[in-house]
Amino acid sequence: MKENNNKLASNSYVNLFINRHQHAPTYSIITHGCQMNEHDSEKIKTLLENMGFEQSDEKLDADFIIFNTCLVRENAEMKVYGQLGALKNLKRENPDMLIAVCGCMMQTGPARDIIREKYPQVDIVFGVNNINSLPYLIDRHLSSGKLVVDIERKDDIDEDIAIKRENEYVGYVNIMTGCNNFCTYCIVPYARGREQSRSVESILSEVKRMVDQGYKDITLLGQNVNSYGKTLENPVTFTELLTKVNDVEGLERLRFLTSHPKDISDELINAMGKLDKVCENIHLPFQAGSNSVLERMHRKYTKESYLEKIEKLKKSVQGITFSTDIIVGFPGETEEDFQDTLDVVRKVGYEQAFTFKYNRRPGTKADLFEDQVDEDVKQDRLERLLDVAYPIFYEKNKSYLGTIQEVLIEGESKNNPEVMTGRTRTFKLVNVKCDKSYIGKLVNTKIVDFNSFALTGEMVD
Ligand code: SAH
Ligand code: SF4
Ligand code: F3S
Repeated sequence: MKENNNKLASNSYVNLFINRHQHAPTYSIITHGCQMNEHDSEKIKTLLENMGFEQSDEKLDADFIIFNTCLVRENAEMKVYGQLGALKNLKRENPDMLIAVCGCMMQTGPARDIIREKYPQVDIVFGVNNINSLPYLIDRHLSSGKLVVDIERKDDIDEDIAIKRENEYVGYVNIMTGCNNFCTYCIVPYARGREQSRSVESILSEVKRMVDQGYKDITLLGQNVNSYGKTLENPVTFTELLTKVNDVEGLERLRFLTSHPKDISDELINAMGKLDKVCENIHLPFQAGSNSVLERMHRKYTKESYLEKIEKLKKSVQGITFSTDIIVGFPGETEEDFQDTLDVVRKVGYEQAFTFKYNRRPGTKADLFEDQVDEDVKQDRLERLLDVAYPIFYEKNKSYLGTIQEVLIEGESKNNPEVMTGRTRTFKLVNVKCDKSYIGKLVNTKIVDFNSFALTGEMVD
């Protein structure tokens, strides 16, 4: 196809594909990493479906496979190379197949060089700010037959397009890109660039459109949402934005992700208690409990100030629940430091925690720190951390037993089509036995069972 059809527009690629194969080309997006990447994948989905591609049922079998990559830890990178390698034979069998790699990994030179040198099966590479170039890049690849790379051009952060999301009732809205914090372990600021806020008007317009379409639960998304608005021509605080979104008529639930403890203001804590749609849940990564570790991580808060904010949130927002991210084995972390981490876990009483062994990332400051912790010490601390955390999650879930919870039914459970899953306002996952007609509805359920990860609810009138 490529040789015969130089200068094809990408839409004609779809038409030609249909003529040749009697079906529309299928696509599959394999997404690694965080919610930011998940949401970018929804933008890619939108572009492709608007061009006439259809979503494939098989993740690793489609006419166009796109890898949206993450480089926050080494194993995220390794997974992509493994999956790309596995596609080599498939591509030999189907020469019309296209493969693209995008996302955070592609923002770095070394990863792009590895793709260029070792993975000739890749046709297109694009960066986190070049998603809208995709149709144009398909064109360029089809007319040249060569690998095309675009990481230069910038998508407009204020662009307001109707994004096709994976779920019809629960969705993310990007309010900012990038990060200025440069935590010493973290590669994200190098991949995603400096903080840039989207305009209030553009965010509100997207939220209103989503609510008109039936969305009920919206999460405002950014690497550090609490510092939203600082870079705007007319600076706005995150609390001001949250208040405006809360006012959108028809919206039921409002959340935000991720918050940085240093930027949680009293203004925000008070607003969370007052704004009716803002849910009683916050993801507040503390990373480490020891003040000396926090300082070397460049987190700019202390164990005491973090715990103080947690207390204020508990007072201001009735029934608030917490989740967090924790790193063990940061360079120089002693057993005593680690005990401080366990202490925070016990004091806060999280409902969920994402726990990581510190992983060296080339290009970050902490990679150059000399006192790296041995792998077996990291593993041991991770296991001991989970030994402390799991019983807490279990007890938290147990405390829901017998209570009535409002659940927004989001879709079918992965394991059993007769069971639907949804979430409480406190972000707790609930399995409910009911039929599909309840998807998108808020239902009251009585919690009758639980395990460490989810609750089981029965519908009540
Ligand atoms: N912007 C968010 C999340 C960034 S990445 C925030 O600031 O919280 C998600 C999580 O990955 C981080 O919170 C941290 O816990 C973890 N992480 C980042 N870099 C890491 C590294 N080098 N090793 C291990 N975990 C890391
Ligand atoms: Fe990484 Fe820190 Fe920015 Fe989060 S706040 S993305 S952990 S640098
Ligand atoms: Fe990974 Fe990029 Fe998110 S590095 S964690 S996908 S911002």
